[in-house]
Amino acid sequence: MKNLIIAPSVLAADFAQLGSEVQMLQESKAQWIHIDVMDGVFVPNISFGFPVIEAIKKHTDKFLDVHLMIVQPEKYLEQFAKAGAHMITVHFEACPHIHRTIQQIKSLGCQAGVAINPGTPVHSLRDIIADIDLALIMSVNPGFGGQQFIPNAINKTKELARMASEAGNNKIYIEIDGGVSLANAPALIEAGANALVAGSFVFNSKDPKETISQLVGLVK
Ligand code: DX5
Ligand code: ZN
Repeated sequence: MKNLIIAPSVLAADFAQLGSEVQMLQESKAQWIHIDVMDGVFVPNISFGFPVIEAIKKHTDKFLDVHLMIVQPEKYLEQFAKAGAHMITVHFEACPHIHRTIQQIKSLGCQAGVAINPGTPVHSLRDIIADIDLALIMSVNPGFGGQQFIPNAINKTKELARMASEAGNNKIYIEIDGGVSLANAPALIEAGANALVAGSFVFNSKDPKETISQLVGLVK
């Protein structure tokens, strides 16, 4: 298993101060920056698209972890790769030809992730688990930051960790997204998570940089 990755989500940042928010992340101990793209169709909210990602990219050399909550993501993969994504995560529920979509992401030189909603079973990923770089377990229903953590995500994390190791994928990132805080992070890590997204917990805290350090420090 890899070391713990902390991926603050810019969805919770102050977009009017995006430059200084990204600068803060750049100076922080966060290894990744999580970027939530929403289309108003797959999820009931619209966030931002390519120009914002390109702007973020100009101000950081951190790993850009792009989470696509959009239908037909295959139409836009090339543009997300060009905009600077290192990891592109698509939703299992949005991709009828998920295996092909994974291959497309990899052919663009990016790492490939697949996300599952709270209502989607972990075993849906069984036949592709050996092919992906990251599996993302949603611990809230996607669409909004600041929602309450769904505790069943801990059981799903355990099941996913077991499944990945049975499939021989010991390099996989197991990422949890939604309502993550210092209150549930230790249980998630214990269950096998090695990448944690944190939006409001980081950006709404008094000292976001220090909050990131605390999360990073959970695994020594
Ligand atoms: C939710 C997004 C999350 C969100 C997390 O649809 O995928 O990445 O930004 O925000 P918090 O940590 O506030 O739940
Ligand atoms: Zn996300």
